[in-house]
Amino acid sequence: MTEVRRLLRLCHPMRWKIALGVLLSVIVILSNVALMAVSGWFITAMALAGLGKMTLEFFTPAAGIRGLALLRSGARYLERLVSHDATLAVLARLRPWFYKKLVPLAPARLQGLRHGDLLARIRSDIDALDTFHLRILGPGLAALISSVIIVAAFALVSPGVAVMTALGLLLAGVAVPLLVRRATLGAGSALSSARAELQSGTGDLTRGFEELRVLNATGAQIDRLRALSLRLIAAQRRPAWAAAAGTALTNGVGQAMTLGAALILLPGAAAGEVSGPIFAMLVLGAMASVEAVSSLPGAFAAWDATLASARRIFALTDQTPAVSEPAMPETPRGNAVRFEDVHFAYDGGSPVLDGFDLTLQEGRCLALTGPTGAGKSTVLALLQRFHDPDRGFVSLGGTDLRRIADATLRQRIAVVEQQVQLFNATIAENLRLARPDADEDRLWQVLEQAQLAAEIRAMPEGLKTRLGELGTRLSGGQARRLGIARALLVDAPVLLLDEPTEGLDSATEAQVIAALATLIRGRTVLLVTHRPQALALADRQVVIGGARA
Ligand SMILES: Nc1ncnc2c1ncn2[C@@H]1O[C@H](COP(=O)(O)OP(=O)(O)O)[C@@H](O)[C@H]1O
Ligand SMILES: [Mg+2]
Repeated sequence: MTEVRRLLRLCHPMRWKIALGVLLSVIVILSNVALMAVSGWFITAMALAGLGKMTLEFFTPAAGIRGLALLRSGARYLERLVSHDATLAVLARLRPWFYKKLVPLAPARLQGLRHGDLLARIRSDIDALDTFHLRILGPGLAALISSVIIVAAFALVSPGVAVMTALGLLLAGVAVPLLVRRATLGAGSALSSARAELQSGTGDLTRGFEELRVLNATGAQIDRLRALSLRLIAAQRRPAWAAAAGTALTNGVGQAMTLGAALILLPGAAAGEVSGPIFAMLVLGAMASVEAVSSLPGAFAAWDATLASARRIFALTDQTPAVSEPAMPETPRGNAVRFEDVHFAYDGGSPVLDGFDLTLQEGRCLALTGPTGAGKSTVLALLQRFHDPDRGFVSLGGTDLRRIADATLRQRIAVVEQQVQLFNATIAENLRLARPDADEDRLWQVLEQAQLAAEIRAMPEGLKTRLGELGTRLSGGQARRLGIARALLVDAPVLLLDEPTEGLDSATEAQVIAALATLIRGRTVLLVTHRPQALALADRQVVIGGARA
């Protein structure tokens, strides 16, 4: 239930929009019930007047019916408008909220999650959260409020019909949806797993077609797919049945309420205490009142999935960051880097660094080499304070990193990763990630220094060339040089390079090295590499490895 409270808190800033949506829903429901009731009354009264049994002023009720019909449509239209506006408002709030929660967790606390998991949470779980008010909170409140008003209104005319209506609404709005939910418990996961397996099986068949042919196994794979299809159909059957049975039961309850109202009123009508028009009004009103709870089955159906999504999202956002901001940040004096007796292990793993020492003087370039898995990237991660050491300390300009504000550290340190992360955006946008206010001249300047300007000038769209999924793919060497240009824009005094020329052919490597030579000039540099050409950039070399016992 804590999830519900937290979801409500997230909806809090939108409470007036949501309340307005609920109010409009209530108007829709009530005008519909009133329309039926007044129509019943009017038709009967007209019939009786036609028989000469009563006189009738029919202008007022006729106008009322027209008014109610208009009110119903108008309120429905406005309700859609307001609810969807509220949904967009919730969405506009939830996503940034989630990303802001993720920032301090990255990268240390997110490494355990595969990219796919994170993507799935961002997509489907956040979407599930934003339907909380649209499918659960709003309809639930509207159903509750209008049910109470309907029952109260009926009670003014006939307490018996009011009690019967209350019971009927509970049955149709709560008991039937709960029954449907019970019948479909677990069906959702069976369905999605069957669907996923069928999808991947189909993918295997098309991608591996040649192999399957060679192995003469096409028939077996098709038989497998047939079996999976049957499983999917079987998994779809139960929820389909349950949903259909639920609809039938709800309709049945509506009919029973109509009949119930008639039976309750019949003795009074026979005795002349209940007039014909009142009789018709209550019977039709009872019939229409089922509409008050008609959205509840959907709300119950969305309930489990929404809570499960909320639990997954909160589980992620509740994690404490691996490092915390200092209460009284200090400004480092200078840019010398020191590791002193640093011990470090990833959560629950064996030690990666075990009494590691390193001194890098300001303005020097130090090469860090050692076998794969020796902990070179870990040293860079500790210097960026993605993690804190278990023992010992890492300092910049003589100040322990734990006493430096995160923002200060980011200004001081630029990184060129082994795998330069390019985003699906233009070259200019990819560069401005490092410095949003850089003007075009500045961009060309760093591209020039990174030895990439000529190639980009040759592209028809220049700086506006799109990269990534939708656009141009850069070659390995171009991507590295773009990473270097980005680091130049950061213009930080300390530079971390993680295998910047790994996997490049020697001609491309020479270009990247030339770009690096510009980049490292006057900076304090920690360079992880094995390549002789890159090693030549360094003043000193430290070999790491065998640190593990
Ligand atoms: N995020 C992580 N979580 C757990 N273990 C890790 C993580 N990153 C690296 N390791 C482990 O720490 C050791 C050192 O890794 P790393 O610093 O990447 O080495 P190098 O860069 O020298 O190849 C390896 O055994 C690696 O498996
Ligand atoms: Mg590495």
